[in-house]
Amino acid sequence: MLDISILPVCIGILTALLTSLGWWALSPPAELRHIPSVSTLKFMWYFISNKTREELHRDVFEPALKASGVAKVWFLGAWIVMFSEPELVKKVLVDINTFQKYNIGERMKGTIDYDFFGNSFFFMNGQEWRHQRQIVNPAFHRSWDTTKVGIVAKDLIEFLEKSKKEPIEVVTLMHRTALDALGRIAFDFDFGAIRDPTNPYYRLYMDIMDIMRIPIRRFFPQLDKFPFPYVKRGIKKMAEFDEIIYKMVNKKLKEALKRKELGISLNMEDRSKLDLLTLMIEAKVHTNSDSTDKQFRDNLMLFYIGGHDTTSNSMSFILMELARNQEIQELARKEATEVLGDEPKDIVPTPEQLKSLKYIDQIIKENQRKNPIMSMVSREVAKPVEIGGCVLKPGVMAGVYMYGVQHNPKYYKDPETFDPDRFGPNPNPDKYNRVPFSWVPFGGGARQCMGMNFSMVEQQVFISMLVRKFKWSLPENSPFLRGQKTGHFEVCYPKDLEIIFEPIY
Ligand code: HEM
Repeated sequence: MLDISILPVCIGILTALLTSLGWWALSPPAELRHIPSVSTLKFMWYFISNKTREELHRDVFEPALKASGVAKVWFLGAWIVMFSEPELVKKVLVDINTFQKYNIGERMKGTIDYDFFGNSFFFMNGQEWRHQRQIVNPAFHRSWDTTKVGIVAKDLIEFLEKSKKEPIEVVTLMHRTALDALGRIAFDFDFGAIRDPTNPYYRLYMDIMDIMRIPIRRFFPQLDKFPFPYVKRGIKKMAEFDEIIYKMVNKKLKEALKRKELGISLNMEDRSKLDLLTLMIEAKVHTNSDSTDKQFRDNLMLFYIGGHDTTSNSMSFILMELARNQEIQELARKEATEVLGDEPKDIVPTPEQLKSLKYIDQIIKENQRKNPIMSMVSREVAKPVEIGGCVLKPGVMAGVYMYGVQHNPKYYKDPETFDPDRFGPNPNPDKYNRVPFSWVPFGGGARQCMGMNFSMVEQQVFISMLVRKFKWSLPENSPFLRGQKTGHFEVCYPKDLEIIFEPIY
């Protein structure tokens, strides 16, 4: 039984803790005070009360950014100076010596984020980053085999056929789909997540994500240093997750060492058929790289996280946009049928056929523009720099607010309208004023997303196959008929989206 005499003391300590955290958050350093501020309390309130990203942008971020495309915001335990004008975005993304990835170890050590993400090369700089990226590069620079994605698309189609025109919750299904695709392509592993909705791999990952997304943690990740029950749960789940990852790595590593011992080399001409993990392990074994197992695990986690939520949420947004815009869905169907034929059976596009799916490519690009999965990416200033009328000292955090750039009416007329013609062959400056760095869903410069091509291939295969097989629409009472509901600001998705799929053949 809790001794109630200590209750007032506990409440007092908690209040003092929250007040000091609040005071800390509300007091920017002197040199940032002149920069327009995003209201911390309003941001927190919108975040906690599940307002949509559109509302957050319109009511909280945009007013602060309006004047010059520069504002400061308190997020992830730090003040971030954010930029939403393309030329400022370019400066931050291109000058990687001045605007460096922040050291997750220094800023986040002791938090669940740090334990889960680890120190992958996503957070590295300079020579260390170059070295790690070199090891992974061969695995990414190749043409992607569409057949493995096709196998997963067929599983998805089979699952949707069984829905019997009942509304399907899409976001979870797309997560399971992207996990299966990543499993086959990156790890040569069948997670089987589409076929089994209670799949333990998927559940484990989502349990960890649910803990990481506890709203108050996004503002004060340092709370993880206290023994709250969620922290203990997180540590346990992460240990289980690590076990799965290490098992996969060790199995492949043993196979690679055996091949090396026997002098067998893989047929690298057929690299497109090999999985990412095998290629990375081959590079490690044959270059005698000094990467530790932990480093290997951390880089793999980067692919696991980076290659899974991002593509799946993108797919969910596309399904939503095409359900709301039936005429665009019809144009996509027309193109897929022209390119893949009208036989009433599932056809997996070849890499050659993908090149002809131009309208579907435009849909994917416009979706990335209107619904970027990552709203903002951040950097740490490494040396004094002047940008957008501010002088930033080393240690200050800088953010590229992709959502803001891509919703700026100066570059995109009617930014809330979904219009794939913006990315058509005859650019119409009225629809899209193509200023460099005004389309940055995958970041830009040397740190641009490594998985961009892979993700584009995945999305093209899924959309072209789905659109030939199904017509889809929103249920009559769907909130998405009137607007959008979005979850999570950092890796955004259409919350509680349900769609009805009607088979064509
Ligand atoms: C729609 C899908 C995706 C989106 C929107 C996306 C977005 C991004 C963004 C914005 C960055 C840059 C972050 C920064 O500048 O701080 C990034 C980096 C990265 N992404 Fe993706 N990504 C996607 C899919 C993938 C996939 C499928 C993979 C791998 C399987 C992947 C692997 C990576 C890696 C390794 C980096 C770090 C590159 C470096 O720092 O050198 N991404 N991604």
